Amino acid sequence: MTRPPRILLFAGSIRTGAYSGKVAAAAQKELALQGAEVTRISLGDYPLPIMNQDLETEEGVPENAIKLARLFASHDAVMICTPEYNGSIPPLLKNAIDWISRAKENGKPIRAFSGRIGCICCSSNGHFAGIRSASHLRQVLAHIQMDVIASQVSVPNAGEAFDQNGDFKEERLRNGMNRTCKALIETASLCMQMD
Ligand SMILES: Cc1cc2nc3c(=O)[nH]c(=O)nc-3n(C[C@H](O)[C@H](O)[C@H](O)COP(=O)(O)O)c2cc1C
Repeated sequence: MTRPPRILLFAGSIRTGAYSGKVAAAAQKELALQGAEVTRISLGDYPLPIMNQDLETEEGVPENAIKLARLFASHDAVMICTPEYNGSIPPLLKNAIDWISRAKENGKPIRAFSGRIGCICCSSNGHFAGIRSASHLRQVLAHIQMDVIASQVSVPNAGEAFDQNGDFKEERLRNGMNRTCKALIETASLCMQMD
């Protein structure tokens, strides 16, 4: 009997009422409905200093980056719901990725990204849904050898996108989240069988 895929899920914003947090909540609901085992975290629970190699040399990689790297490594897939800052990845998220990429255990790099399945959602209150941030994030994750699935959910006008239950008002977005979660679970399950 195969186990359900374990999916780590988080938003690239810790703002109160963040749209990306609402997208993560909608994804959590859908992934669970489709049978995945979901761990949703907040980057706010893993505060990190701004990446500075002097700090790394003097004090090592912060414990929170190591904890995050271990979390990545213990899941089959990672879904990231990102906002967009000035056409790109917000610093909270990029800084976390940069630190995680430096995490080591017993002198060996923790394989947080390599070979892991990734999935991206993006949101913004504008018409373009943060898609520039999503495409930059896709490039960064590919560079560190994550296998990011093609399917993604892009939520424009995010201030108006959710009903009082936190569900997407538009059928197009509900279907999009359904399809993306299905693709993520199928891809992660396939990779688990090959391991
Ligand atoms: C520094 C900064 C830059 C931003 N740049 C963009 C942008 O390029 N494109 C966009 O759609 N929204 C941009 N915004 C607006 C964000 O989409 C909006 O603040 C959004 O609520 C942030 O995501 P969150 O709700 O998940 O925290 C920017 C916001 C900030 C603070």
